[in-house]
Amino acid sequence: MTTRVLLVDESGADASKVIAMLAVSGRGEFHVTHAPTVGTALTLLGGGSFDAILVDFGKAVDVSPGRLAALLVAATELPVVVLTENDDEDVGAAALQAGAQDYLVKSRINGDVLRRVIRYSRERTCVQRAFETALADHQKRLEELVVERTGKLSREIADRVRIEAALRESQHRMQAITDNLFEGVLVLDQAGHVILSNQSADLLLGERSDVPLAGKEPKEPLAGKEIDAIFTLVVDKRRLPYQDGPFRQVAQTGELHQEDDAVFQTAGGRSLMVAFACSPLIDGGQRMGSIISFRDIRALKKAQQEALQASKLASVGQLAAGIAHEINTPTQYIGDNLRFIGDAFGVVSEVLESSMALVAAELPDSAAAVKLRDEAEAADLDYLLAEFPQAISQSLEGVGQVSRIVLAMKEFSHPGEREKVAVNLNRAIENTLAVSRNEWKHVAEIDLDLDAALPQIVCLPGEINQVMLNLVVNAAHAIQLAKPTAKGRIAIATRRRGAAVDIVIGDDGTGMPDEVKDRIFDPFFTTKAVGMGTGQGLAICRDVVVAKHGGRIAVDTEEGKGTTFTISLPIDGNSASLDGSQ
Ligand SMILES: Nc1ncnc2c1ncn2[C@@H]1O[C@H](COP(=O)(O)OP(=O)(O)OP(=O)(O)O)[C@@H](O)[C@H]1O
Ligand SMILES: [Mg+2]
Repeated sequence: MTTRVLLVDESGADASKVIAMLAVSGRGEFHVTHAPTVGTALTLLGGGSFDAILVDFGKAVDVSPGRLAALLVAATELPVVVLTENDDEDVGAAALQAGAQDYLVKSRINGDVLRRVIRYSRERTCVQRAFETALADHQKRLEELVVERTGKLSREIADRVRIEAALRESQHRMQAITDNLFEGVLVLDQAGHVILSNQSADLLLGERSDVPLAGKEPKEPLAGKEIDAIFTLVVDKRRLPYQDGPFRQVAQTGELHQEDDAVFQTAGGRSLMVAFACSPLIDGGQRMGSIISFRDIRALKKAQQEALQASKLASVGQLAAGIAHEINTPTQYIGDNLRFIGDAFGVVSEVLESSMALVAAELPDSAAAVKLRDEAEAADLDYLLAEFPQAISQSLEGVGQVSRIVLAMKEFSHPGEREKVAVNLNRAIENTLAVSRNEWKHVAEIDLDLDAALPQIVCLPGEINQVMLNLVVNAAHAIQLAKPTAKGRIAIATRRRGAAVDIVIGDDGTGMPDEVKDRIFDPFFTTKAVGMGTGQGLAICRDVVVAKHGGRIAVDTEEGKGTTFTISLPIDGNSASLDGSQ
């Protein structure tokens, strides 16, 4: 195989020497073309095809690297071997740095060296080319791979973004659904930590927070807290921590637990009447905790109690009215007969006294007169004659009192009165005191200051009587507590004030501390022992006065001094008339 060599050499003599050297050692292997200038070399390179370039600039390569560079640019594929005259490492290194394959010092070469160098340079260039081609292929493949993987990755990212958005949307939807549930929902883990709470739960069980929540009463979110730090279930007046209660049991056994009438006591001390169900939280077949859903049953309980109270009142009222009616008739004839007996006794005693006087005057020493005197003395006749009228008048008084109480009972009970009617409040107060006499007579004196000019007011008489009864009984209880051995005072006054009437009921009982005063109108709030109070008295009073009559109820109290309740009722039964009067 022939190796075509382009020899660039300005010196013809040197060129001939090289050509001869190659001819001898190559023995026909080399076909050398001589270019006397770089310009000719460039032209030849443009026209023919060569396998290697030999460059001999004489001493010029040291001073003119520009020409070497021109050749290297024109023949990037070909190995370039530089011949130098100078035995200087730096010159060779400069040539190699510029891109030459090799360099030879002219004084040290011969035909074999030259042949070997040209051949190796050519082979090296071939290997390098092959390597560069392989590298380029590899690079290309790599780039294709990068493009392919980038495309796949961006598709995966887009998919993930879409999935995450869908997940977020579904989470928002789920939160919105749970937040809009009327029932409170709490999800607990096995240890009793709240994993999730909805808005109803936050509102019902949360304590006020300083962080304002838009449009809602500020409450702290419950999620993340321990259940015992939020509320405990109360069973038989005992607070059950999570550890001992049914929520943990549900999480452990997986059995449902349900109660229709339970109390949750919040960390802040509020009691919440609820119906709740607790079911296990199961994920992938594993019991992970529990789900509590609960609803506030205060309104339901209140309505139940009111209905019960109303039906009790109605039946007690009916019974009382019936009894009053039954007692009324015999009371009347007992009174009539007593009056008759009194009158008759007056006549009989006169006749008796004058008969005795007559016998004593006409037959003073007769046996009949003596016997009559003895019998009169034995029977204590003088005493009987003196005491008899008094006994009768006392009995008449008693009967009068019975008929007054019976009348008060009839008027107080008002069975079945459902419409508002005009009522004389002063009389209603007197009736209330008459029927509740037993509650206060051993405890207090009553000071009455009733406005004689009080107009009648339009109201539900049965319910207003109930209000006054509750207030009088509360006053009596407070006095009994404060003064177990002495009597206190209950002062009741009525006044007209513009379009309203005020009823003021004051006592000198225990009074109330602020924490009691703040809660007295709450249904079921009582400080009294079990069986002594249900805590409904004042809740009913407020309902009757405010909700049913558009009136007001205010309390003024001082611990250790006493309490005064003031009730304002619109005269015409219409709340609008109250506003102008204050
Ligand atoms: N005149 C008062 N003086 C002092 N405390 C009072 C007075 N009136 C009410 N209270 C307090 O308010 C609480 C609630 O009164 P409320 O009448 O609602 O219920 P109760 O009297 O306890 O029970 P109930 O009336 O249902 O039998 C009472 O337990 C008591 O602590
Ligand atoms: Mg009461």
